[in-house]
Amino acid sequence: MALVSVNGSLVDASEAEISVFDHGLVVGDGAFETVLLFNGGPFALERHLSRLDASLAGLALASPDHARIKDAVDAVLEHVPYQQGRIRITVTAGHGPLGSGRLPGEPSIIVATTELTEVHESAVVEVVPWPRNERGALVGLKTISYGENAVALSYANARGADEAIFANLAGNLCEGSGSNVFVVIDNEVITPPLVAGCLAGITRGLVLELSTVQERDLPIGDFRADRISEAFLTSAIRGVEPITRINGESLGVGPRTLQIKGDFEALRLHNREP
Ligand SMILES: Cc1ncc(COP(=O)(O)O)c(C=O)c1O
Repeated sequence: MALVSVNGSLVDASEAEISVFDHGLVVGDGAFETVLLFNGGPFALERHLSRLDASLAGLALASPDHARIKDAVDAVLEHVPYQQGRIRITVTAGHGPLGSGRLPGEPSIIVATTELTEVHESAVVEVVPWPRNERGALVGLKTISYGENAVALSYANARGADEAIFANLAGNLCEGSGSNVFVVIDNEVITPPLVAGCLAGITRGLVLELSTVQERDLPIGDFRADRISEAFLTSAIRGVEPITRINGESLGVGPRTLQIKGDFEALRLHNREP
């Protein structure tokens, strides 16, 4: 049975309890991180904890001590029988009313893991009809309010795709439901800037440090297989993943993507805390 950590206590997942008044459950008031469990340990945990702090600060919620979260992660991982997986760290506003107001009190801190069984080699994406709001109150924060992403991904899945791609209100490429997106045009690697409304992905950040990439807006109308030569997604779980189909049109896997993927995978193999 899987063990999870709830507010510092290690419990069997089937017996874990969170209050029905938890403000995370009631209104999605909280933030989270998905960290890759790679060869038995977390990858880039420090970067994820820094982003968790930024998300909580953006929500005007206090951040728990990193030591407290790391202890919970270590405690959970001690009992995990697999080497590759997904570590989910969730921090909510804790006990609240059945509405949007907040009550003072302790946050809820949850750490859970699942095994990564299927490894995607490539991604099939579909642009969804709803825009990301690059001027919204939650822009750039990894909050647990993911209903919009769930709707978008289900729309993409229904069309045979495994990732949904959002444009923003300005009509430019933004991000995936759980990933950042890069394209190659005229041998130049381009990704939307953070002001386009995308999350500052940890993998995106590492790719920007490893490679020459232009952070530049791309009109969503140009995000088509016949206008770009290569494209790829990045996320903690996907790593660097070539896109092989956009809105039903095939796209080849090219040398720039393979180079960046190779460089990223070498970094991940040799440096647990880049
Ligand atoms: C909306 C969104 N954008 C981008 C990403 C990629 O971020 P990271 O590389 O930190 O996983 C995620 C990750 O889940 C995400 O949810």
